[in-house]
Amino acid sequence: MKVVVGITGGIAAYKVPELVRLLKKQGHEVRCAATGHALEFVTRVTLETISGAPLYSDLFASGRTEHISLKDWGEMLVVAPATANIIGKVASGIADDALSTLLLAFSGKPVIMAPAMNCEMWAHPAVQRNIETLKGWGIRMVGPEKGELACGVSGVGRMSEPEAIVAEVNNLSPFSSHLSPQKWLVTAGPTYERIDSVRFIGNYSSGKMGFALAQALADAGAEVELVSGPTSLTIDHPRVHLTRIESAREMYAAVTEVFPRCNGAILSAAVADYRPSECADHKLKKNGSEGMHLDLVQNPDILATLGGMKTDKQTLVGFALETDNEEANAQYKLEKKNLDYIVLNSLRDKGAGFGVDTNKVTVISRDGRHTESPLLSKKEIAQLIINTVTT
Ligand code: PMT
Repeated sequence: MKVVVGITGGIAAYKVPELVRLLKKQGHEVRCAATGHALEFVTRVTLETISGAPLYSDLFASGRTEHISLKDWGEMLVVAPATANIIGKVASGIADDALSTLLLAFSGKPVIMAPAMNCEMWAHPAVQRNIETLKGWGIRMVGPEKGELACGVSGVGRMSEPEAIVAEVNNLSPFSSHLSPQKWLVTAGPTYERIDSVRFIGNYSSGKMGFALAQALADAGAEVELVSGPTSLTIDHPRVHLTRIESAREMYAAVTEVFPRCNGAILSAAVADYRPSECADHKLKKNGSEGMHLDLVQNPDILATLGGMKTDKQTLVGFALETDNEEANAQYKLEKKNLDYIVLNSLRDKGAGFGVDTNKVTVISRDGRHTESPLLSKKEIAQLIINTVTT
């Protein structure tokens, strides 16, 4: 992978040449970007020699938009050490030097931070709030660890060792296989509930969210059973097995058969809660000028059924598509259906939900953690969900 290593001004910067060396040893290409303060701790010559590439540290030096070139080049950005200052800047959207500008430009690709600071600073509510904000955006934190700090005290604040940071880089690499040999089940798309031989009750789901989840899980090494309602989407991945179904009852049968063999399931399909009690085997004719009444019966709740089947070793993730009282309704579904996580989709969020390529979600865990995303592509949302529910 092409990895940009961003260095900020903390004493742990002295470990960065070793980090760069390890990354290169594992076959990654590395370029470095540093703040002015970082260069008080580690020299330009060292970083350029060890990475084999020019260091990016001055926003105006070349007269070119180097932060954009570097963000185009890099496939992943690792900030080590990440000081309270850079964490606060990114959380607040401040871009006032080479590295912070690069960080704001580096969207849609994995970012890892290895925080390092004094333990009182780490414990400060402002820092903790900023960390939660960054995590909510999908930025991965490695450490900090507990141990002796440069200021002489002992506590949480030490930067993780370069080996741990490299492990996380490998973990997040698209070529990684950290979910291997797990098997995951994903549902996608709408269901169609037949009225007669040509008509059905359906909904606007395109399947994009579920297919993105299946792709991201497979990219992370998992075998994926994708059960999808009618959609024009296709997926071509050796680890994804696609079963196409039409109705909620067909989805129920496919899903309950495969779930006992899975490590986890993410149910993103928009399943019809009701179906016509009868389905005519011919096209129903218009009955003069009279109206028509459809008698509806309830479909099985697939997610709740899996909640009842779930063992302690399985992770069950549901979605909640809400228009009002969003959080309370999602929380209710989380508990009632015995889920580990619920992904809340609000139809009040512009650009989120049915059909579009983007989404905005809040992932709520059973123990009350909330991970909120901004509006991102469904691919990035899938990554964020998987990062949250598989760690
Ligand atoms: O497919 P896209 O166009 O990309 O759109 C994505 C999406 C908007 C469909 C998706 O992000 C989403 O929000 N999916 C859930 C839609 C939904 O039906 O939500 P719900 O709140 O009605 O259902 C709650 C959960 O129960 C869901 O996990 C659903 O899959 C499940 N369910 C619902 C009814 C039922 N009979 N059986 C179920 O398993």
